[in-house]
Amino acid sequence: METKVLKAKRGLSEAARLILAGETVAFPTETVYGLGADAFNPSAVKKIFEAKGRPQDNPLIVHLATPKDVEKVAKDIPKEFYVLAKKFMPGPLTVVLPKRDELPDVVTAGGNTVAVRVPANKIARRLISMSSPIAAPSANKSKHVSPTSAEYTYNDMKGLIPLILDGGSCKVGIESTVLDLTSPTPTVLRPGYVTEEMLLKVLSCVEKFGGEIKVAKSPGMKYTHYAPKVPTVIAKTFESGISEYDRAAKEGKRPVLILKNRKESELCGRKVIFVGKTAKEVSKNIYASMLNAEKTFDEIIIEHFGYDGLFGSVMNRVEKSASNKEV
Ligand code: TXA
Ligand code: MG
Repeated sequence: METKVLKAKRGLSEAARLILAGETVAFPTETVYGLGADAFNPSAVKKIFEAKGRPQDNPLIVHLATPKDVEKVAKDIPKEFYVLAKKFMPGPLTVVLPKRDELPDVVTAGGNTVAVRVPANKIARRLISMSSPIAAPSANKSKHVSPTSAEYTYNDMKGLIPLILDGGSCKVGIESTVLDLTSPTPTVLRPGYVTEEMLLKVLSCVEKFGGEIKVAKSPGMKYTHYAPKVPTVIAKTFESGISEYDRAAKEGKRPVLILKNRKESELCGRKVIFVGKTAKEVSKNIYASMLNAEKTFDEIIIEHFGYDGLFGSVMNRVEKSASNKEV
């Protein structure tokens, strides 16, 4: 199959036509690129699992054009959803709710809950409103790093899907926060741009809400995720990163350091990719830095960014990428 890449605006109507015809289309969102299909067409949704090589028991997020459409796919929607929607939708927050029977089981992997999200990216919302609610995981091959540009999407999906909409690079850069509202206490299943603190602030205003959020102990542990194609380690300190770099280089490998911000003079000619100073910059650039690094280098050493706010969400992804964890 030939995979076309079209500038998002020019390709929108063809993308909508393909979705309605039961095909898959990759499209930009503010977090990462998604690989979408009509959520109400089971054979179209199956094509997503095939293209990604994704296990059938891992459910997909349904993307909506507006929070008002939630009732098309979910039922018994709690008050908390609307409170969160007012503050964070459209945006990088996914909420798990009880599933409506009409939604095909393949989307939710047979489960009785559905994850919904309203992307902030306008192209994504246009595409959904021109077609249907869209079931979409990240547009990477299963277990690879999520793509944050049309080019990275193409590298994983070429020959497997008919169309990629190119909307430039993703602003948030890591996948959405996933919050489960079907458990007795709202539970963060995957940390993201919308942090626990931000959620608490909003949820504590809900009348019956106990003012508590749980964070799942090992979110996403069931599946290996986000790994670059070359060994990746976390350096506890800048110094331990340098030692690891020099050890690898001595063995004849081509290592690279992924760092927040350092003076060139401290690096003495070692190869480095800078990901930015602020948490927002690091979040936007972290996946792109891994995807660039794996093209040229054979070991990636990532600086530990700490767990403060959004850095914690970034470290969640970095920890899943690292094969032998910390040096
Ligand atoms: O930012 C994002 O969320 C991106 C863009 C494309 O929207 N999508 C994304 O999808 O990251 P995916 O499939 O790569 O990750 C979705 C995560 C998975 O860990 C999946 O297990 C979980 O959400 N999930 C989906 N439906 C669920 C459900 N009903 N209950 C619990 N977890 C669910
Ligand atoms: Mg994914």
